[in-house]
Amino acid sequence: MKKYNVAIVGATGAVGSEMLRCVLEFNFPYESIKLLASARSAGKTISQNGIDFVVEELTADSFEGIDVAFWSAGGSISEKYMDAAVKAGCVNIDNSSHFRMDPNVPLVVPEVNSEALRDHKGIIANPNCTTIMMCSAVNRIEEVFGIEKITVSTYQAVSGAGVAAMDELYAQSRDVLDGKEPIAKVLPSGGDKKHYPIAFNCIPQVDVFNLENGYSKEEMKMVNETKKIFGKDIKVNATCVRVPVLRGHSESIHIQTKKPLDMPLVFEVLANSTGVHLYDDLANQIYPMPTAFIGDEMVHVGRVRQDLFSDHGLNMWAVSDQLMKGAAYNSIDIGLKMIEMGIL
Ligand SMILES: NC(=O)c1ccc[n+]([C@@H]2O[C@H](COP(=O)([O-])OP(=O)(O)OC[C@H]3O[C@@H](n4cnc5c(N)ncnc54)[C@H](OP(=O)(O)O)[C@@H]3O)[C@@H](O)[C@H]2O)c1
Repeated sequence: MKKYNVAIVGATGAVGSEMLRCVLEFNFPYESIKLLASARSAGKTISQNGIDFVVEELTADSFEGIDVAFWSAGGSISEKYMDAAVKAGCVNIDNSSHFRMDPNVPLVVPEVNSEALRDHKGIIANPNCTTIMMCSAVNRIEEVFGIEKITVSTYQAVSGAGVAAMDELYAQSRDVLDGKEPIAKVLPSGGDKKHYPIAFNCIPQVDVFNLENGYSKEEMKMVNETKKIFGKDIKVNATCVRVPVLRGHSESIHIQTKKPLDMPLVFEVLANSTGVHLYDDLANQIYPMPTAFIGDEMVHVGRVRQDLFSDHGLNMWAVSDQLMKGAAYNSIDIGLKMIEMGIL
């Protein structure tokens, strides 16, 4: 089997460190692994699975001899260095939002639209974390019943805004418990004008607002990326909320189907969906919660029930570690899928 020279861009970050773990633990066939970050981290040693890696500074020359790069250093870094990586012949799987809506860049959740990978021109985009988990959860419902519209509310962990937001939740929680005023410097992410405490709070803002329509950028990512991934006009109505959870996003999803629902078939379909784990034991109060799945690559679905007022309406609750399925694992899974398809 071919082995690949791999680079991880943003390797010191919340997503990048999980990418390294995924490359090692999901047996991505590597020859070498190069960890790249800013000049601040150059020379730093990262230990994972008993192996020590030394971080290098990202430059335009970093991609010589690299076969595949997994990116998670933010949109401006992807924008600045991607051209050099593509010219060096490297295949790039990018976690930032920069290339997601580019018509020349496939936007992929492997169990939903892996065929789109065949059209890549050196860059593949990893969708937004909230979008990946929702698309994975509803994929088979779309296949069997057809989806007209999804109304979703998210409950997003602070790690979705990176390491700094995780540190902020810890520090603010300690301050509140010590009777001090919590200091907010990071969240809401994208909101530069004002910051609000997340400890013991909920913030109905993830990323900046589009003042013309009142939706946040995160909400519009769910609207636009879902359409691109399914290649269909599935309507999404989203409200994204940051909650004081360290890791793991949750979503309350209402689906309006084209065909009338058959609930035994719904449970059967969900129980057999790739990448989805169904929880169907309400009598024993069994349902997914974010703290149960840290480091896990699945989308966990529970509280599945029909709309009381419509046989075309389905409610479900989905939970996933967004650093894994929503980012690092989905990226490595794209690479593994490309190897399986013979296109890497
Ligand atoms: N967190 C999530 O749940 C999530 C989910 C899906 C997608 N994403 C996307 O993934 C990306 C990274 O998110 P994150 O949460 O991992 O952020 P993070 O924890 O803040 O990590 C950012 C990474 O980028 C590196 N970086 C920053 N400036 C750089 C520069 N000038 N040159 C090279 N490297 C630089 C940092 O290196 P230093 O340590 O050296 O500064 C660090 O490794 C973002 O585009 C984000 O939108 C995040």
